[in-house]
Amino acid sequence: MRAVVVERYGPPEVARVVEVADASPGKGEVVVRVRAAAVTAGDARVRGAAFPAGMRWGARLALGIRKPRRAILGMSFSGVVDALGEGVTAFAVGDEVSGTTGARFGAHAELVAVAAERLVPKPAGVSHEAAAAVLFGGLTALHFLDAVGLAAGRSVLVVGASGAVGSSAVQLARIAGARVTGVTSGRNAGLVRALGAERVVDYEREDVTALDDRFDVILDTVGTLSARTGRPLLREGGTLVLIAGGLRDMLSARGDVKTGVAGEKPEHMRRLLALLDARELDPVLQETIPLAEIARAYEIVDSHRKIGNVVVVP
Ligand SMILES: NC(=O)c1ccc[n+]([C@@H]2O[C@H](COP(=O)([O-])OP(=O)(O)OC[C@H]3O[C@@H](n4cnc5c(N)ncnc54)[C@H](OP(=O)(O)O)[C@@H]3O)[C@@H](O)[C@H]2O)c1
Repeated sequence: MRAVVVERYGPPEVARVVEVADASPGKGEVVVRVRAAAVTAGDARVRGAAFPAGMRWGARLALGIRKPRRAILGMSFSGVVDALGEGVTAFAVGDEVSGTTGARFGAHAELVAVAAERLVPKPAGVSHEAAAAVLFGGLTALHFLDAVGLAAGRSVLVVGASGAVGSSAVQLARIAGARVTGVTSGRNAGLVRALGAERVVDYEREDVTALDDRFDVILDTVGTLSARTGRPLLREGGTLVLIAGGLRDMLSARGDVKTGVAGEKPEHMRRLLALLDARELDPVLQETIPLAEIARAYEIVDSHRKIGNVVVVP
């Protein structure tokens, strides 16, 4: 199969398409023929060894000291079941499925082997590109919105509202009946409004930390805020979530400040795909790029100006 390998940490060009042995299913696993896979901030962090502040050595210990331990990156994907491992009864060859590989990566390839419980059926009305696009940011946004118990009528501030996590967070908060303020640059203000934000703050013109408004929930997907600068923006009983937080944020997170790693629950995947199918959620797909041009996808992610999501297609 063709796959993108990253054999050393470095710039987008270190991601090369090569021929490797086909993925084969272990016990309880499914091999999926990938139709689309997202290229995410998570993949780019590993490829470029661009880990959050204070986590550089811990991350290298976990993910590879000199080079990524998993040469084939890629987490969120969608495709068609190609082969079943021993004991898998939930799926059949030919089923359309979407899923995530988590820290095992491997989705930037023609075939990926993944535990059956990491897959959900893809609704026929949802494209593989849309499904792959939405899972990374959507699962992260759902995880943290669920963790804070977002309720209708609450006010939510999303910093980084036009990114993968932010664009899902704005929409999911709007769907939950919350009033959303999105922080983005002027060029994405129209998009963020269309996704459901009542108000948009242009960070190039306004200092987020100096806003007069107070919020029940703040999701910072950029790293603009810290516990110290974000807390004053909270209403009584509110919660600040530092999604892009580094080690210092993790250590200072307690009470009304949360950080952590988002889970990837199958019920959340089903919910996101059902919302896509119902046209309630827009996958905000900036571009679909051939797998062979993955370096270009990484350049977009590395720019930190990506609009929503970028997917590659084998
Ligand atoms: N904790 C977890 O489990 C978890 C899970 C997933 C992701 N993450 C982290 O979350 C972060 C966001 O990921 P992502 O995939 O959403 O990123 P992304 O899609 O690459 O974000 C790009 C967006 O950020 C916006 N942006 C850049 N600077 C900004 C600023 N100062 N204020 C407001 N918006 C700004 C850009 O808008 P403009 O072009 O308009 O500037 C662009 O649309 C990453 O650091 C990622 O590692 C954490």
